[in-house]
Amino acid sequence: MGEPMTVAEGLAGVRGQALPRHVAMIMDGNGRWAERRGLPRMEGHRQGVKAAERLVRFVAAERLVPCLSLFAFSTENWNRPRDEVENLFGLLERFVREQAQELVEEGVRLQVLGAVEALPASLLRAIREVEERTRRGDVLHLAVGINFGGRWSILQAARRAVELARAGKLAPAELDEVAFAKLLPTAAVPAPDLIVRTGEEKRISNFYLWEAAYSELYFTPTLWPDFDEGALLAAIRDYQGRRRRFGKVEP
Ligand code: FPP
Repeated sequence: MGEPMTVAEGLAGVRGQALPRHVAMIMDGNGRWAERRGLPRMEGHRQGVKAAERLVRFVAAERLVPCLSLFAFSTENWNRPRDEVENLFGLLERFVREQAQELVEEGVRLQVLGAVEALPASLLRAIREVEERTRRGDVLHLAVGINFGGRWSILQAARRAVELARAGKLAPAELDEVAFAKLLPTAAVPAPDLIVRTGEEKRISNFYLWEAAYSELYFTPTLWPDFDEGALLAAIRDYQGRRRRFGKVEP
């Protein structure tokens, strides 16, 4: 191991090779971060929001990648204690409201992916407002999964396909992979080149499924609140060292 790199050195390094177009993050480990310090789990989530804000600011300011996804709340997260779920929604609403102006100024387009109709009305209103206000952002497309699940996403596309077929607008033979991908709620984001999961576990946990068919996966034991600019650059460096074959043999 050499000397630890500065962020500037890390940036210069990753800029020398092809950068991913879309990096997606499974932000895990907030609870453990807090528990290890004898703090309530919510403190971990608060620090997790700070980590997310820091990363978005960095990626946008450096124009590092054009698309970033953050998996904030899964369709399975409803199974957590009610208090934690309510507090998480409160944090997400605050994030959306407080960051709106900065996102507009930085050119970030925020899109929330997920079954948002099931969210508390005030959070849903805040989401709609920030999506509308940031709609023209062209520096960074920030996709935030809230009440998102990979299976949910595929099901949405399947339902739309059935509806189109019923209306006589789609023949079964026309439904190929390209056509199906256009029906997914994630149609506006490119397929993720790199999926990063923090916090030790090595699974996808019903995040992007269809979209992840050829994604490179990167797992780090770093807990989400500690995931900083240097950690992101390390993940990108690792990605750049891989050979992506998309099922083909080497030329
Ligand atoms: C994972 O930690 C975190 C979550 C499921 C909560 C949502 C994420 C945040 C609040 C970060 C900020 C996001 C945005 C978009 C601002 P965990 O509770 O699963 O941790 P544990 O596995 O250690 O218990």
